[in-house]
Amino acid sequence: MGPTALCPGTFDPVTNGHLDIIERASGRFDALIVAVLGNPAKQPLFSVDERVSMLKEALVDLPNVEIDSFTGLLVEYATRRGVGVIVKGLRAVSDFEYELQMAQMNHRLAGVETFFMTTSPEWSFLSSSLAKEVVLYGGDVDGLVPTHVRQRMMEKLGRG
Ligand code: PNS
Repeated sequence: MGPTALCPGTFDPVTNGHLDIIERASGRFDALIVAVLGNPAKQPLFSVDERVSMLKEALVDLPNVEIDSFTGLLVEYATRRGVGVIVKGLRAVSDFEYELQMAQMNHRLAGVETFFMTTSPEWSFLSSSLAKEVVLYGGDVDGLVPTHVRQRMMEKLGRG
């Protein structure tokens, strides 16, 4: 076990792939802060409050996991919270290039380290964007996102 780590993301919405990384990371650190980005470049489907609430419901059984939100630079939030380690999941080589850039920038800006975890193979194809597209066009994301998230996606995308 180590100190506190930060697991940041857009989480629009949380998928079983995110939960896999969060659950495994929470077993390796004393505490884990899951931080929802409030101002992503593209317009999210769910508000910050909705994304936080879906994460809270999904992670209620993990006592060392806190759900929070932030705006602005991730390293500023990390510094404010006194956290020096970011945990990110890697699904495939295609994720690596951008994640490496961000990790190096975050280290350059504030000395914050990034630890990468490999996503479990069963979730390597899964993303929030793809899950939303599936629901939008009438497909079912059962087993890919938690049940309460599936329900809220169907309501939000007019499939409820
Ligand atoms: O779930 P995502 O979309 O892959 O998460 C990306 C996130 C939120 C980790 C990244 O966009 C981020 O850190 N944004 C905050 C703004 C910031 O610090 N930008 C500089 C990154 S080097």
